[in-house]
Amino acid sequence: MRHFASDAAESYSVGVVDVARWEQYSLGDALPFQAMWYSVPPASSSPQDLHPEVELSVVVSGTASVEASGRITDVAAGSCFLLDTEEAHVIHKRSTDTPLMVFTTYWMPREPVAATAGGGGATTTTRTATTTAAGTAGGETGR
Ligand code: NI
Repeated sequence: MRHFASDAAESYSVGVVDVARWEQYSLGDALPFQAMWYSVPPASSSPQDLHPEVELSVVVSGTASVEASGRITDVAAGSCFLLDTEEAHVIHKRSTDTPLMVFTTYWMPREPVAATAGGGGATTTTRTATTTAAGTAGGETGR
C-alpha cells in the first residue's frame, strides 16, 4: 500500500490554479491513467483547458462550478464530473468560503475497435500507442 498525502505533494501554479501532478510519484505504468490534485482559490476561475484526454474528477472539498459545453454545473464535495475528449472546460470557484480542491484522473480514449481488423495483435499495438500519447501529454501544463 502506498499513501499519497495531498498536503505534502509538490505543486506548481497554472494561472491561479495550484496543480500537484502524480508524475512526482514515479509510478511508471502502474496505473492506466494519469492523476493530479488541483485547487482553485475562492472567487476565481481556472484558465480554459482543452485536451484529447478524457477527464474524470472528484470534488474533494468546496463546490466546483464546472463550465463546459455552454453551461455551468455546480458539483458538490464527494460528487464527480466527467469531461469528454476535446471538451473545453473552465472550473469556477464562486463562493468565498471553503477552498475548492479536486482530484482528477485522465487518460487517452481508446482507439475505435473497428479500425483494427487484425485480431489480438492489434490490441497490443493500440495499448502501446495510447500509453505513449498519454505520457507525452502529461508533461504539458493544465489538464
Ligand atoms: Ni482538463
